[in-house]
Amino acid sequence: MKEKLEQIRAEALSRLEAVDTLDSLNEIRVAYLGKKGELTRVLKGMKDVAPEDRPKVGQMVNETREKIENRLNEVRDQMAKKARELQLQREVIDVTLPAKKIEAGHSHPNTVTLEELEKIFVGMGYEVVEGPEIEYDEYNFTKLNIPPNHPAKDEQDTFYINKDIVLRTQTSPVQARVMEQGKLPIRMISPGRVFRSDEVDATHSPSFHQVEGLVVDKNITFADLKGTLAEFARQVFGEDTKVKFRPHHFPFTEPSAEMDVSCFKCKGAGCRFCKGSGWIEILGCGMVHPHVFEMCGIDPETYTGFAFGVGLERIALLKHEIDDMRLMYENDIRFLKQF
Ligand code: DAH
Repeated sequence: MKEKLEQIRAEALSRLEAVDTLDSLNEIRVAYLGKKGELTRVLKGMKDVAPEDRPKVGQMVNETREKIENRLNEVRDQMAKKARELQLQREVIDVTLPAKKIEAGHSHPNTVTLEELEKIFVGMGYEVVEGPEIEYDEYNFTKLNIPPNHPAKDEQDTFYINKDIVLRTQTSPVQARVMEQGKLPIRMISPGRVFRSDEVDATHSPSFHQVEGLVVDKNITFADLKGTLAEFARQVFGEDTKVKFRPHHFPFTEPSAEMDVSCFKCKGAGCRFCKGSGWIEILGCGMVHPHVFEMCGIDPETYTGFAFGVGLERIALLKHEIDDMRLMYENDIRFLKQF
């Protein structure tokens, strides 16, 4: 019995020396220690051993099992270690390699400027409202007191979808839409894209952006308009900016004006930037025309209001001293990155 056990042990250990895969390691475990393995078979033969020898033989079997088991575990651990080392070698990372550059996009100067304008007006308690780019002729023109024979309605200025629908030529129709809802008072701005049948050049584009403004309440006066827009100009162009209102005509406001700001380049002395005048034209504005109020269901005897419209590109180009509007639409990252 003793020889038999020694033979089993020697054989198992020598097979273990040659083993090179986990599968063959398992085969050996089963062959010697498994339910039908060599050692179990020896244990089954115990009934033929003299009772007084059984404890001794039992102990020998256990010792043999333990030796084989220990060696099996050792070999298994060695194999796992070797596999891990190989894996680490394969996955070596060169931490000194420079990282790949991530090309992040960049906010468009229009977006930057719009966010700035929104912040200013929201800070004064205004709401930001959006209107449709494809608009009824009625909202774009009629409700704004623009008569059928007005030159703005000419096909050379306006893109018509059909006789009733146009690509809006201004953001002013949003005024009518908001007033019609009947919620008063109103303090809103409405930014968005507008369309005119213009040829592209350094200062024109068939599609550009405006920001409309409208305030309607009891006792709103031209002084409110002036104070609000002067504060707006100071926040956009600097504390020492002066403003000047020139009489103008817009069909939907009466009186109407254009607002100029003192040239922030030369502080009013006159330079190339302001074409020597010291002033730069910024926006159109005026007191809401009583006809417009009536067409939009607001009583002009009780309510008054002011409105204004700013060209977004105009502000962005001025602020960043960009002298050609076409650059704004080319989406050249080398240009956009600068702002
Ligand atoms: N809609 C005018 C334009 O496109 C700009 C404008 C002028 C808007 C006066 C107004 C305003 O709200 O009161 O030229």
